[in-house]
Amino acid sequence: MTDTTLPKVTIPSLRSKKAAGEKITALTAYDYPIARILDEAGIDIILVGDSLGMVVLGYENTIPVTMDEMIHHTKPVVRAAKRALVVGDMPYFSFHLSERETIRNASRFLKEAGARAVKVEGASKKRLRLIEGLIEAEIPVMGHVGLTPQSIHHLGQFKVRGGAAIEAEKLIREALALEKAGAFAVVLECIPMEVARIISGALAVPTIGIGAGPWCDGQILVFHDMAGYEYGYLPKFVKKYADLQNILGGAVNAYIRDVRTGAFPGDEHSYHMKPEMAAALKKIRP
Ligand code: KIV
Repeated sequence: MTDTTLPKVTIPSLRSKKAAGEKITALTAYDYPIARILDEAGIDIILVGDSLGMVVLGYENTIPVTMDEMIHHTKPVVRAAKRALVVGDMPYFSFHLSERETIRNASRFLKEAGARAVKVEGASKKRLRLIEGLIEAEIPVMGHVGLTPQSIHHLGQFKVRGGAAIEAEKLIREALALEKAGAFAVVLECIPMEVARIISGALAVPTIGIGAGPWCDGQILVFHDMAGYEYGYLPKFVKKYADLQNILGGAVNAYIRDVRTGAFPGDEHSYHMKPEMAAALKKIRP
């Protein structure tokens, strides 16, 4: 059960947490049962990430994920989250054509799915204008810089960003620009912790790190990575807290064995007729 004494997480409450030096917790979810587990455990932010494509839908990267898929998976997460702030991730090509199209797509997360904010990758000049447009349309935006998986073809591979001083300087400028554009938080993905420390100290809004070290104001991981429920490659920054794949594999193996040997279903999993009905049936079918 969700602890009802805990107040609902809001955008201002995240900022207050940063001011009070309290760490913000975030994980991804893409369905009702996992979102319920996260919410009831007291997580602050649930991101319906476009990592959906890789960890749930079996795509090679996040590029093929569509708006319809994101909305479909955001709805059950919102139904489960009584306290956490649910953020919908804008998938590739949902914010690239025009401001009008971007606002229409982002508004679907709020109007159709019930999320309370969206996340947008990148901080180019054009991207910052779009983010301003979203905020103008009352859509709270979480920024995302560093390794931005939607740029995979441009980057060539997933690797640490901001390792060189000049790149680090650019990252710091981008994070500041996102704050200026109105982002309520900024995800820092796969960057050196020294850079994340500077950014976290420079911004008034919280930084949420993933592979960005301990000085971020909060941390996020992909649920399937931290729970050991994935088939992909696990980056160095992931700490595995469970081994769901083995636990579930073990359960399925035991089920197969029980069905084959007749150990399942047992009497306790079967229904009985009332004795008088069983006797009446015996008269019809001796
Ligand atoms: O899609 C996602 O899950 C993300 C997080 C890794 C931040 O963008």
